[in-house]
Amino acid sequence: TDCAAPRILSCGPGPRGCNITRAAAVSRRREEILKELGLWPQWRLKSSNESNDTPSVITDDRRSSILRMDWQELKTSVATCKACPLHEKRSQAVFGVGDENADWLFIGEGPGAEEDAKGEPFVGQAGKLLDSMLAAIGLKRGENVYIANVVKCRPPGNRNPEASEAQQCEPYLEQQIALIQPKLIVALGKVAVQNLLKADATIASLRGRLHDYQGIPLIVTYHPAYLLRNLPDKAKAWADLCFARKTMRELQ
Ligand code: URA
Repeated sequence: TDCAAPRILSCGPGPRGCNITRAAAVSRRREEILKELGLWPQWRLKSSNESNDTPSVITDDRRSSILRMDWQELKTSVATCKACPLHEKRSQAVFGVGDENADWLFIGEGPGAEEDAKGEPFVGQAGKLLDSMLAAIGLKRGENVYIANVVKCRPPGNRNPEASEAQQCEPYLEQQIALIQPKLIVALGKVAVQNLLKADATIASLRGRLHDYQGIPLIVTYHPAYLLRNLPDKAKAWADLCFARKTMRELQ
């Protein structure tokens, strides 16, 4: 389950009389954890005079180690990730929720305040609407459905994630998708679409047809938070969901 503490984090006190300092022990422990996750020696702490900017390019080493992770390694890595500045203000990373073998995968943008507090995606007002959208096509959170976001940490002030932040987080979502192997992806809103399809087009121009994410059919619709502000577009989202349901039936 999500709650199971991974073996590698079971950090007990050292033997009595041990003369290594606590800082050295912590640092050695970190090194062991990174080694177990296949992230050492590529990852290291920044020294204090290094820039705090998010590197705009993700290293091949980091990306390929993430793309080898199993669920537990991925969860631990996301929970402890400091690859971009979003970690500084998060209460916790929001990994994703649902059936890890789901046919359906819904992808949003990033956690908001309520998600950051609860550690689960789409639990605020937009989440309630997403649950209703799921119910409208006979689906329920957690039952044959997985819900994830492009970025796992809350962008302050609910701003959109920056490209460099999404880029650092991208292999996490990529690996979630690889582990779930959904039959169909529904991309919710512009940020999800931009990052998954690498297309800077409007939702209006992309909805109503099938797209492809690494061989998986992908359907585009409006983000529930947008729908809360633009009620007339709910009818279009409903049409998109009907299209998604029809597509899934044809895939089965
Ligand atoms: N909006 C998103 O895109 N994701 C969430 O988890 C919550 C709101």
